[in-house]
Amino acid sequence: MSEIRGVILAAGQGTRMRSRLPKVLHPLMGKPMIYYVIEAVAQATSTPPVLVLGHDAEKVYQHIQDMEVEVVVQQPQLGTAHALQQTAPVLAHTDKVLVVMGDMPLLRATTLQKVSALLPPAPSGALAMLTVRGGEAKGFGRVLRDAQGRVQAVIEEAQATPEILAIDEYNVGVYAFEGRWLWSALERISVSPKGEYYLTDVIALAVADGLDVHALQLDEPSEAIGINTRVHLAEAERVLRHRVNQAWMLAGVTLIDPGSTYISPEAYIGMDTVIWPNTYILGKSSIGEGCELGPNTYVRDCQIGAACRVFNSVLEGARLENHVDIGPFAHLRKGAHLAEGVHMGNFGEVKNAYLGPGTKMGHFSYIGDATIGAQVNIGAGTITCNFDGEKKNHTHIQDGAFIGSDTMLVAPVTVGEAARTGAGAVVTKDVPPRTLAVGVPARNIRTIKD
Ligand code: UD1
Ligand code: CA
Repeated sequence: MSEIRGVILAAGQGTRMRSRLPKVLHPLMGKPMIYYVIEAVAQATSTPPVLVLGHDAEKVYQHIQDMEVEVVVQQPQLGTAHALQQTAPVLAHTDKVLVVMGDMPLLRATTLQKVSALLPPAPSGALAMLTVRGGEAKGFGRVLRDAQGRVQAVIEEAQATPEILAIDEYNVGVYAFEGRWLWSALERISVSPKGEYYLTDVIALAVADGLDVHALQLDEPSEAIGINTRVHLAEAERVLRHRVNQAWMLAGVTLIDPGSTYISPEAYIGMDTVIWPNTYILGKSSIGEGCELGPNTYVRDCQIGAACRVFNSVLEGARLENHVDIGPFAHLRKGAHLAEGVHMGNFGEVKNAYLGPGTKMGHFSYIGDATIGAQVNIGAGTITCNFDGEKKNHTHIQDGAFIGSDTMLVAPVTVGEAARTGAGAVVTKDVPPRTLAVGVPARNIRTIKD
């Protein structure tokens, strides 16, 4: 039986990030970088990865406890070889061990699979590894080859002579090991002058054992971006954003300026939607077909139907049905639900409220904790006074009502079907259907005839 398990090393402190947050929790496109690594390794091996935690293990654990991983703790942190050694009790009988560094979030599952496929079955294989050529060194170990091009060793920057430093093939930190050989080799690694046990020393050990080291060179160097500093974090973010944007453009979405468009890896966008510059589609947002979003629009965790237009606005946790038209300068907050054909103009805020089909709120309004029917006209400056200092109260406005400009609706209150309020009315009592209410406080002055 050929069993493979993945190991992710994530116990290090990440000193170079200069942060109180553990390195592997730093977010990339809104998700901790370690999530990307866990997902790629799980996909490549089809088994839950083993995650080595150490520095701030508790904090990291809180973020990954819902994921399918097996956690092993490395205490103290004495280097990458020592970290891997901690997994021996869990993986002693595993045929093949795929090892990935926790700070390499751009590696694709397909690449990891290729490295693992490169390791021939025991006893001839000891290890396969991933390298990358060219570009900046970024502190990576150098890959030493002999005249025949066979890999001989990996030398860490701190130990390298100027000649070795000039080598432009780097160790990515992805390895597939033959299980039994690995555990015996790790025991033979001696401590480096820096006081750490380097996993990279296993390469020279394999060569000394007369075993071949198989190396795969990355086609796409950007996959090898490792996060040691916040400069690398920004680089990774840019690459990831490019990947996501590219995929949506190929799926039929127009991005006017991909460089200033931020789409979360969890978002969905329908065909023929056009996204203008400086627009953010974050979290688990879903956008229908044929919409136009932006410029300067922020959408987080929203469900947006087809053919909607959102212009210069901020939408958080909102739901829009089809043909909704919003902005500029609208703010939809959690629980805002705008039905088909709703129009919301400038300087409006909607929170925890339903606006029925065809309802219009053109200017300067606050609608919170409200249920509003179909074809309602909400005049400029209308406010639902939903908070009495202690609790939130609900406002109901029924179909076809007409709310005059600057109406204050002091909740709890109901405005009946086809009722009207006069400009500046302060409505403190229910307005019956087809009734006109005016004044402060508002009085019902007459019934409206068709
Ligand atoms: C390591 C490699 C280097 C490679 C580079 C690429 C070693 C000695 N060097 O260097 O050849 O080019 O990765 O990514 O392996 N970790 C632990 N326990 C420890 C120390 C580190 O779990 O005691 C974890 C870290 O959390 C990190 C990973 O191992 O996720 C790599 O550690 P890091 O210090 O970033 O190593 P590099 O200097 O990048
Ligand atoms: Ca690193």
